[in-house]
Amino acid sequence: MISTVIVELGDRSYPIHIGRGAVDRLPETLASLRAKGAAAIVTDSNVAPLHSEPIRKLVEAAGLKPALCVMPAGEENKRLTQIDLLCGNFLEGGLDRSSIVIALGGGIVGDVAGFAAATFMRGIRFIQIPTTIVAQVDSSVGGKTAVNHALAKNIIGAFHQPSTVLSDLNYLSTLPLRELRAGLAEAIKHGIIEDEGLFEFMERNAPAILAKDLTALETPVRRSCEIKSAIVAEDEREEGRRANLNYGHTFGHGIEAVTGYKQFLHGEAIALGMIAAGALAEDLGLVDAAFVERQKRCLEAYGLPVAWNEIPVDETLALMKHDKKARAGTMKFIVVDRMGHAVQRTDITEAQARRALEALKTG
Ligand SMILES: NC(=O)c1ccc[n+]([C@@H]2O[C@H](COP(=O)([O-])OP(=O)(O)OC[C@H]3O[C@@H](n4cnc5c(N)ncnc54)[C@H](O)[C@@H]3O)[C@@H](O)[C@H]2O)c1
Repeated sequence: MISTVIVELGDRSYPIHIGRGAVDRLPETLASLRAKGAAAIVTDSNVAPLHSEPIRKLVEAAGLKPALCVMPAGEENKRLTQIDLLCGNFLEGGLDRSSIVIALGGGIVGDVAGFAAATFMRGIRFIQIPTTIVAQVDSSVGGKTAVNHALAKNIIGAFHQPSTVLSDLNYLSTLPLRELRAGLAEAIKHGIIEDEGLFEFMERNAPAILAKDLTALETPVRRSCEIKSAIVAEDEREEGRRANLNYGHTFGHGIEAVTGYKQFLHGEAIALGMIAAGALAEDLGLVDAAFVERQKRCLEAYGLPVAWNEIPVDETLALMKHDKKARAGTMKFIVVDRMGHAVQRTDITEAQARRALEALKTG
């Protein structure tokens, strides 16, 4: 069964179709968008051999000329030179202002293809076909597109909403288990900040979800899309409530940066970031030790890291501050005051942030 969540953004509203076989809706989607001529299929070097051929056929079935653009996989390729290369591919493939870009892959492909679509010929439409959990529960929804700069992650980008998201659970069957676990950190996060019911579901169903039972996986994907869509509809440009989605991210980005983006996957760093955010909330007297323990047990049940004995606290803190400086912002921390309810704090002292990072050391 396919369920549909609508992201309500006036004349830029779009559907997210979720379920096994959702991708079969591609020809009708392209027809309803009145796409003409060529369509670019942007994917990465891992996903291309696994999943690009059926998409190419579906594009042809819609009467369009497919232009397959394969970027090398990996965060190090999420950079401006890749946009230049893709725009070259789009021109060679015959794309024009009425064309569509299809992003087939994880969060990296979605962010890069989305930004290329946002800028090519001053902006053309794009469709997200997310193939990782991170992309299905998070990055394909909400229209944030970006590439990294050497000094800061996701710093060159644009808000550019997709025209449709086709979230096909079948793709998860080829996803490496470590990627699956890491992506689920974002779904657990949605439960912690917005929906205790989702958190309870994640607590109860870890074995089925980790066994890639697609019926069990449907709930975190659909519920995450519902939660994120509602937030984006209210605060598309992250001027308020949308920042709650960054729970665990202020610490997590510091952890990613201090390890050169190599030691932890994004979701793993966010899991550690949520542990630090939990310690901060306890330090602030917002939650009790039982909350901290409950959050930890759930992340552990998904095989996510919940401690890092060797964390270089000073360097991590310095990078967290540097990240914010690069973005000309104040350090904003998202914490919770109960399961399912987030609060934003800009009054956290360096000593409090340091103690939260220290809490990641268990020895
Ligand atoms: N735009 C947003 O709102 C937003 C939100 C969260 C994360 N992000 C970004 O997303 C990126 C992380 O995304 P990700 O975790 O999906 O990483 P990713 O895109 O690198 O995908 C993870 C790995 O899995 C492979 N892969 C993808 N789908 C597969 C499949 N079905 N079968 C087998 N292998 C598959 C990829 O080639 C890659 O090696 C980061 O750059 C992060 O900044 C963006």
